[in-house]
Amino acid sequence: MESRVGSGVGDCHWTAFRVESQRKLMSSMTFTFHIRRLMYGFLLVGCLFIVFQIVRLQRGGGYFDDVDRTSRLKQINLMLHSSSAETWRKLSAGGQACRHPHLEVNSPEIMKFIKSVPPIQCGNDTDWVKVNGSTVFITDEARARHGDIQCAFTDILRVNDHSTHDGVTTQTHTEYNLEESDFVRVLCKTSKGETWSNIMPGIRHDQDVLDRTGWDKLPHDALRLNVLMFGFDSLSRNMFIRHLPRTYHYLHETLQMIDLRGYNIVGDGTPQALIPILTGKTELELPETRKRMGEKASFVNIYPFIWKKYQENGYVTGYLEDCPHIGTFTYRLKGFDSPPTDHYARTYYIASTQEYSHHKKYCMGSIPRHKVVMNHVQDFFKVYREKPKFMFSFHTELSHDSHNLIGAVDMDMLEWLQAMTEEGHLNNTLLIIMSDHGPRFADIRNTQQGKQEERLPMFGFVFPPWFQRAYPHAIVNIRRNSQRLTTPFDIYPTLKNVLHYQGAGKGNIKDRGISLFKQVPLERTCADAYVEPHWCACLDWQEINLQDRFVVRAAEAFVDFINKLTESYRDICAELHLERIQWAAKLVPNEGLLRFHKNADIDGFVADLSAHTVVTQEMYQLKVSTMPGGGLFEASMMYDVTDGSFTVRISDVSRINRYGSAAHCVEHSQHHLRPYCFCKAPPPQPPKE
Ligand SMILES: *[C@@H]1O[C@H](CO)[C@@H](O)[C@H](O)[C@H]1NC(C)=O
Ligand SMILES: *[C@@H]1O[C@H](CO)[C@@H](O)[C@H](O)[C@H]1NC(C)=O
Ligand SMILES: *[C@@H]1O[C@H](CO)[C@@H](O)[C@H](O)[C@H]1NC(C)=O
Repeated sequence: MESRVGSGVGDCHWTAFRVESQRKLMSSMTFTFHIRRLMYGFLLVGCLFIVFQIVRLQRGGGYFDDVDRTSRLKQINLMLHSSSAETWRKLSAGGQACRHPHLEVNSPEIMKFIKSVPPIQCGNDTDWVKVNGSTVFITDEARARHGDIQCAFTDILRVNDHSTHDGVTTQTHTEYNLEESDFVRVLCKTSKGETWSNIMPGIRHDQDVLDRTGWDKLPHDALRLNVLMFGFDSLSRNMFIRHLPRTYHYLHETLQMIDLRGYNIVGDGTPQALIPILTGKTELELPETRKRMGEKASFVNIYPFIWKKYQENGYVTGYLEDCPHIGTFTYRLKGFDSPPTDHYARTYYIASTQEYSHHKKYCMGSIPRHKVVMNHVQDFFKVYREKPKFMFSFHTELSHDSHNLIGAVDMDMLEWLQAMTEEGHLNNTLLIIMSDHGPRFADIRNTQQGKQEERLPMFGFVFPPWFQRAYPHAIVNIRRNSQRLTTPFDIYPTLKNVLHYQGAGKGNIKDRGISLFKQVPLERTCADAYVEPHWCACLDWQEINLQDRFVVRAAEAFVDFINKLTESYRDICAELHLERIQWAAKLVPNEGLLRFHKNADIDGFVADLSAHTVVTQEMYQLKVSTMPGGGLFEASMMYDVTDGSFTVRISDVSRINRYGSAAHCVEHSQHHLRPYCFCKAPPPQPPKE
């Protein structure tokens, strides 16, 4: 979600409530100002000051409330145009221009904020009523326990994005089939007078949608995949691994997820992430939709959402987001006048959040609310088992306001993924596990690694096994691209290619968004990808003098590192010495990233660059030669600024000239040491003819 003043602990409902009440406070102060101007003159000066302070606070201390969108867009284009892309390309010497920082999952700098949390407890009672696809039924277990149960099922209907009304009520002792709406209010009574109530989401039986959709209606060049995007708010890739280790392991090992290591945000907040993914554009490039622009603003329906294309091409569509008071398209933007997708969960959340106080925290009845989301997605897949589907689901409540709560989801998410797999739903589905951006709480954001992780959200692709066999080149490209600089702009053309596949091959560096089925060029920089410098997690290349004492120390540390590898074989492998440093560059987080403090305006169009983040890690790239033997190596080394130590990972070292027979003495016994061992004994002479 977007960053909001007043956000703190608690669920998204209450966060939003606090913001609202702050707004009311502001307007009532302004009112007072008009009425009692004369009588309370001096008091009002103070009042005005407070209002001023609140406004300042809300706007991040800036005065860019109504920045002219066109001129801001020009400014961004200019900024990107004047960036150092060419220098980077030159310095990267044919390698990858965007080098990402190496961010340890277990970094102590971050781990001090991480706590494990227990699963969410919703009590030991089970729900009397459950949902299965289009059917809402009274469970046998409840009847065995309580005797005959009569339930009233009331359809909940959408009025608009902010209100609902109740439809027809049906009384039954068995089950209710959803037809008018996906959502029902349930009120049950036993003959003894015990009661149970809830608001529940399912997937209505909708003949119009069933008639409109079908695999036979897809374009002839479609990849014939369902698309399921399943997201959590504010989770970096590293945070996902930290908090959902079982889920990540299953995704990675069993489902062979390809997760993008260099997926870089292009703006601040959820809309700035989701708008490019879903429309291929930025908010500034699209028609005005900001709520406070009143009549001048259009409803968000005007956006060219990708789900419209899916809907027009035989797919049934769904969109779910759980925190209606801070909705991506409704908090600051004007929302939808008509439902954007065939199934739109907002109506459920408008009705259910009002009842949250009757339920345990983070629960709805006897199940955690994140499971309501998972079950709903599963119901969508059950009801439309035989139909092509596109679903975008985004869960916010647990991760928006807390570093740690999302950890409670791990087991449920794993079980859900296993069930989705076992029921065959993933067999013809492109599953995208994603987030909008990393965590942005002040404490983590004050660290270098925290800032870098904020810019590198979770984004992973799971393809069915048959797809990997049928489109091997596309899969190879996605795997390659998982190490390169990618952005939300690339997701839109990727999703377009699912509808109209255009082959693998090479992506064009001039394209802002490149389908990930194509190869993203190695030389792509943040400027090419339309990432403003302060969002760019790629490290800045700085050319440095070869005599620089840090370069010399780094080179010596590197030679020590290789010598350690062969130390136990010193009787056969010679100790190496640094001969010459041939080339060196330093890679550091860019100035904009370090100085980024927060947004200077409430729309997230303008950055406040007043922070002073301390650099704690630098990366050195070296090319050195060693003696004896004339080995030539390239290596990346991490320099820890706080304790002055260098670290090398073996995977970051490459021997770039041939070692040939110089490593003959370890060739058979210690294969892995061949690049690093110069044998003391000369190679055996080939037998004379
Ligand atoms: C729920 O059941 C568990 C064990 O079955 C028990 O330890 C726990 O106290 C129960 N909780 C409540 C609220 O009854
Ligand atoms: C849900 O409904 C399907 C048929 O629509 C049925 O096969 C399945 O057994 C049901 N599941 C449960 C848990 O009732
Ligand atoms: C998945 O699809 C393959 C090939 O179409 C089929 O053999 C397999 O049984 C399916 N698995 C499930 C769980 O539906």
